[in-house]
Order: sequence, then C-alpha cells, then structure tokens
Amino acid sequence: MATVAETRMARMPPVFAEPHPQEKSLTALRRQADACERCDLFKHATQTVFGEGPLEARVVLVGEQPGDQEDIAGKPFVGPAGRLLDECLQEAGVDRTLCYVTNAVKHFKFERRGKRRLHAKPNAGEIQRCAWWLGGELELLRPDLIVALGATALYTLMGRSVGLTKERGHILAAANGKPILVTIHPSYLLRIRDHDDRTKERQRFISDLKSIGDQLNA
Ligand code: URA
Repeated sequence: MATVAETRMARMPPVFAEPHPQEKSLTALRRQADACERCDLFKHATQTVFGEGPLEARVVLVGEQPGDQEDIAGKPFVGPAGRLLDECLQEAGVDRTLCYVTNAVKHFKFERRGKRRLHAKPNAGEIQRCAWWLGGELELLRPDLIVALGATALYTLMGRSVGLTKERGHILAAANGKPILVTIHPSYLLRIRDHDDRTKERQRFISDLKSIGDQLNA
C-alpha cells in the first residue's frame, strides 16, 4: 500500500506555523485534547491518546497514530511497535523515559474486520486538524531535537511530502529551524517477513536512533 510520502499529499502549514492552543501547561492541553472533536476520528476511538514524557525532555519522538493497544491503554507506543521502539532505543543508548513520546494523530483510526480493528491510515485532513495538538505540545516542550518516526510524522512536521527514503538518517530543519531527525516507523520492521532483511533494517533503525545522542552532544 502506498505510504504518505509516496502518494504526495497536499501541502499544509507545518505544525509550527499553526496558531497554537493557548494552554499554558501540558496537563491543561491534554485535558483539552481529551474532548477533541476537530475531526471525526473521536467518534469510534476509545479515547484521545496524548503524548507522554517529562516536560524537560530534550527529545520528542513523533509517531503516526495510536494503535489498537494504545487506544485501549490511553498511552502512546505501548503495543508491539512500542515494544520494538523501546528495544531499539535501548540498543541505541537512548533512555525512553527521558524522551517525550507522541503521535501526529491522537485518535486510533481503524477498519473493523470481524472482531479485529485494523489500522487505517489517517488522511491529509485528519492529519492537518490534529497537527494543532502536536504544535501545542512542541510549543510547550521546546525540545532540542524532534524525531520523525515514519512518513506521517515527517509530513506533519514539515507540512509537505518529503521523501522518507531519501532523507532517512538526515537532520532536516523544521519551519522554525528546529532539527528533525528522519527515520522509519518501527511498525515497518514488524512487517518485514524475511529474517535477514528484518535484522538488517533493525540495525539501520538503531543506527538512525544513535544520531539522537550525537545530535544532543554536538
Ligand atoms: N504506532 C504509532 O505511530 N504510535 C503509537 O502510539 C503506536 C503505534
């Protein structure tokens, strides 16, 4: 299936160019997001899954949207992709507890197949409406580095389609000059069937994540 990067989505204001919510704390912003009806995704999701981590985090990791387990737990990256992310961060020498972890889209979008709820990609309108919250989180956190995990996060942060394959491992400048480290989404690794390919790609992901430390110490 085509990714966001491959289908070239419309330009939108990058998150930093959006007028931000006026909330003065992450707690207040989260409370406001709990009642979000900016798009229709709230209608079927269990709850808003807001970002999590310390206010003083120097690094913000941005994924796509909560999955099935995150939707139920109300926490980002706690399912299979999250566990893999944790392992890779650890191998890269990055302490997740010192990072703020969030998503571009705060509600789980899915299609029902019997009892299963299968991930469905958020569209450009949903991404754009939800960018309001990410913009608010980043405004309050003011991190030194933002890590775009996959094409949706990258699109949201840059406000335009950027070739993930081309820019992977690079640091791009966001509209406000903030550095954005480009890498894949961990769920990409979960989809690779071939053992050797998966091992190779996992190592590449870890090596991308090692740039977090390099960037912070630069
Ligand atoms: N995938 C994401 O992008 N975010 C999550 O929180 C979980 C899975």
